Amino acid sequence: MANSHPRKVTVVGAGLMGHALALVFALGGHRVRLTDRSGAILAEATSLIEAAAATLAEAGEIDSSWSPSRLAEAVTLHEDLGDALLEADLVIEAITERVDAKTALFEQLDRLAPPAAIIASNTSNLDVFPLIPRRRWKRALITHWYTPPYLVDLVDVVPTEETDPAVTEEVTGMLEAMGKVPVVFPRFVTGYVANRLQEAIALEVFRLLDEGIVTAREIDLSVIHGLALRMPIVGVMGKADFTGLGLIRQNMANATYQPPKVTGRSRTLDAIVEQGADGVRTGGGFYDWSESTPADLFRERDSRLLSLKRALRQIRPMVPR
Ligand SMILES: NC(=O)c1ccc[n+]([C@@H]2O[C@H](COP(=O)([O-])OP(=O)(O)OC[C@H]3O[C@@H](n4cnc5c(N)ncnc54)[C@H](O)[C@@H]3O)[C@@H](O)[C@H]2O)c1
Repeated sequence: MANSHPRKVTVVGAGLMGHALALVFALGGHRVRLTDRSGAILAEATSLIEAAAATLAEAGEIDSSWSPSRLAEAVTLHEDLGDALLEADLVIEAITERVDAKTALFEQLDRLAPPAAIIASNTSNLDVFPLIPRRRWKRALITHWYTPPYLVDLVDVVPTEETDPAVTEEVTGMLEAMGKVPVVFPRFVTGYVANRLQEAIALEVFRLLDEGIVTAREIDLSVIHGLALRMPIVGVMGKADFTGLGLIRQNMANATYQPPKVTGRSRTLDAIVEQGADGVRTGGGFYDWSESTPADLFRERDSRLLSLKRALRQIRPMVPR
């Protein structure tokens, strides 16, 4: 996983994404400076980074030399933004998804980051380009990761209208050297591909639940044993080729399927959330998770994901160039 050309990477925002991104870049051989405006969140990052590294080491994904002291050397914590940005080659913006917060930060980055630094935003749904001072556009872009980024390899990459193609190439090269899978978009598209598909699935799932057609478990059985089984091997477009495009075209022409209306609500979801259930973190949601602690459940999920990734590396997806 090591990169032949280590860079100085500053990660701004040490929350759910930021601490994990700091780990990804450190494991990729880069020097990372991590900062957050909250001292408490910054202080918590160390144990979260160590726990994630331990999960990867247990699964044999990284070697055991990634001790807490090596991690602390690779990821240094900085309360002061100017200090964190010292000599940065690449700045990863991973702060709160709010226009006012991001606007204020980009102004600070413009003042404090070296002129040659590349600015990469992890924005989920906000088109951040209008918030970035124009003179930085040549060296700015979006790199949108998925959580946890040390397990999920996809990274959506979106250049601004003015991004130097060499910058996009440099960043995608860095990502690929870390074993990541960048997908480059020509312009900002809300939800990119993966989140858009996830949104479409969510709309359909909540319609099925609200109409009382199936249970949550039946949805998951249908996904795990049907829909999802082929996806890691042939994706969605490859599956269409295997099905036969004539049939896909005929199904489309039959137009028997009507997508759900977007109402912004689900009766089922409202009822569960109003009972105080939030899912794994509260011991229950669609399922009862109360027999284990959230930390154990996340660890167990991650270890199974790592087993699946290992298996997929052997099986190899069928996605021709
Ligand atoms: N959570 C996800 O699954 C996910 C996935 C992809 C992208 N994202 C995006 O990544 C970004 C961060 O999301 P998150 O889930 O890590 O959020 P989070 O709330 O866990 O962390 C955000 C952190 O930013 C810090 N912060 C806010 N303003 C700051 C500033 N001016 N300077 C320094 N630190 C500041 C906060 O203290 C907080 O610790 C958002 O844009 C989000 O949309 C999140």
